[in-house]
Amino acid sequence: MRFDVLTLFPEIFQGYLDGSLLGRAIQTGLVEVQLHNIRDWATDKHNSVDDRPFGGGPGMVLKVEPVVDCVESVRGCGAAGGHLVMLTPQGRRLDQPAVERLAENDRILLLCGRYEGFDERIREILKPEEISIGDFVLGGGEVAAMAIIDAVVRLAPGVLGEEDSSREDSFSGPLRRLEFAQYTRPREYRELKVPEVLLSGNHEQIARWREQNSIERTRRRRADLLDKN
Ligand code: ADE
Repeated sequence: MRFDVLTLFPEIFQGYLDGSLLGRAIQTGLVEVQLHNIRDWATDKHNSVDDRPFGGGPGMVLKVEPVVDCVESVRGCGAAGGHLVMLTPQGRRLDQPAVERLAENDRILLLCGRYEGFDERIREILKPEEISIGDFVLGGGEVAAMAIIDAVVRLAPGVLGEEDSSREDSFSGPLRRLEFAQYTRPREYRELKVPEVLLSGNHEQIARWREQNSIERTRRRRADLLDKN
């Protein structure tokens, strides 16, 4: 699976891409990430990618020409096409079902904004899927793009080993519940004991306890998830 990140700050990504799970997936060839600097497609002599908004107001707006040229040029290279995602607080909020849908693509282009937003004609011409990672405003789409890469790559076949499979993650499976409580050694710490059933070796009882724990946690913390089922 391939990601193309279109950004004014490609250098932000490098440390993250070298990190453990993703770094390994890139090294083994399961995942490819290409970074593209939108400024390379600037059309004027000052290399400008943003300008003041028509009608006045604070901040700067990303210009239509460099962004459209950048997307069209990147789309045309490699295996042509790819699913275009625009990161914006105005987009549809990301959740695990949306991550699962994104993971069905062989190639995703992630368009990161900065400043006060995108010239509206970028949306009209490119018709991207617009995604927000939450109802808050980031300084730009870069952190949101990293969140998408991280969540999607975990689902790509071969990235997680069987022993840390994503099957039982929170929000996964048809019921979209929170994951049950987990424990590891020691069995007792500051008088807090691991629930006896988890030490029993009885797989049926353990499965039942986890199911119950997952339902209770979801009800206490995220009752809205239960309402959706
Ligand atoms: N850019 C700025 N804020 C954002 C958000 N919440 N999600 C995605 N992209 C963004």
